[in-house]
Amino acid sequence: MTEVLGRTDRDILRAAGMLRAGELVAFGTETVYGLGADATNGLAVAAVFEAKGRPRFNPLICHYESAEAAFADVVAAPLAARLADTFWPGPLTMVLPRRAGCAVALLAGAGLETLAVRVPAHPVAQRLIAALGRPVAAPSANRSGRISPTSVAHVLAGLGGRIAAVIDSGACRVGVESTVVDLSGPKPVLLRPGGVSAEALEAALRAAGREEDSRFRGNDGIAGNEGIIRGPGMMEAHYMPNLPLRIDATEVRGDEALLAFGAPLAGAGVVFQLSAAENLNEAGATLFEGLHWLDEQAAALGLTGIAAMPVPRHGLGLAINDRLKRAAAAAQ
Ligand code: TXA
Ligand code: MG
Repeated sequence: MTEVLGRTDRDILRAAGMLRAGELVAFGTETVYGLGADATNGLAVAAVFEAKGRPRFNPLICHYESAEAAFADVVAAPLAARLADTFWPGPLTMVLPRRAGCAVALLAGAGLETLAVRVPAHPVAQRLIAALGRPVAAPSANRSGRISPTSVAHVLAGLGGRIAAVIDSGACRVGVESTVVDLSGPKPVLLRPGGVSAEALEAALRAAGREEDSRFRGNDGIAGNEGIIRGPGMMEAHYMPNLPLRIDATEVRGDEALLAFGAPLAGAGVVFQLSAAENLNEAGATLFEGLHWLDEQAAALGLTGIAAMPVPRHGLGLAINDRLKRAAAAAQ
């Protein structure tokens, strides 16, 4: 059963308690309803992907109470600070490099070195994040491939019974998702058009003295409303291991590290256990941590590759296999 909560302080505190306990709570933002999880809890983030039925791990947006809180987790280039002044709280998401001490689970950022951050303008979202005292990772609160929800009824139609609660936050003022701009490289790149218009963004860039970077429209940064294409291959943006990765391994060579799921294959020296209990949500939560760690270990020990044991192809197993397959292809 999915509980429908109201907007009283008691309800908000209850919702924050659920998030703290690793449960999922949908809540309103000024753009669309988000499916929230404690961003620092990898298992809770894995549960988001499972509830959405996402066949792959797309990076999620982390929602913060303030720009200060966001910039404690990501590195704010001067331009990012300017845009935050202009558009936050509001429907702008900025992709920025993670800081070393960032407590956000790697799975929330799909293992990338960048993190998408935003400060929403909706009072319910703000109160919820403040009550939790941690960033809230939240994709739109719809089943994968469906339209983003802008009411409690939409959320319940898609996710009723799959999440702990939804906060009745009223209507979504903007009604389309946030604009996503990548500021992690030398030039800002518009990844997804959204609630902040390209014109408004361009004007802000010009005001910041970045005239030469202020023409988004017509460059190859926009590809329909799917966004996230900044050139061939960008759609595949994901963590790439440095070493060759062999998937569905049924034996392990002496010069390979092992990514285990369940009882490890015999003979492996360096092992990262995704889930000893063969729990797919746990495996999703630990996947990117495991790949990063194995990469480091394997390089330090002079190993030549990583062997990944088979992971069942149901539930989150689909997303896990999708990522493993891409990582295997990318590393070749
Ligand atoms: O308005 C919104 O943005 C809503 C509300 C809930 O905040 N959220 C939302 O989340 O639309 P989602 O997961 O449906 O879309 C997030 C977008 C995806 O296109 C994702 O690929 C991109 O942001 N994104 C997230 N992190 C990224 C990163 N590190 N690098 C590149 N793109 C990223
Ligand atoms: Mg979405």
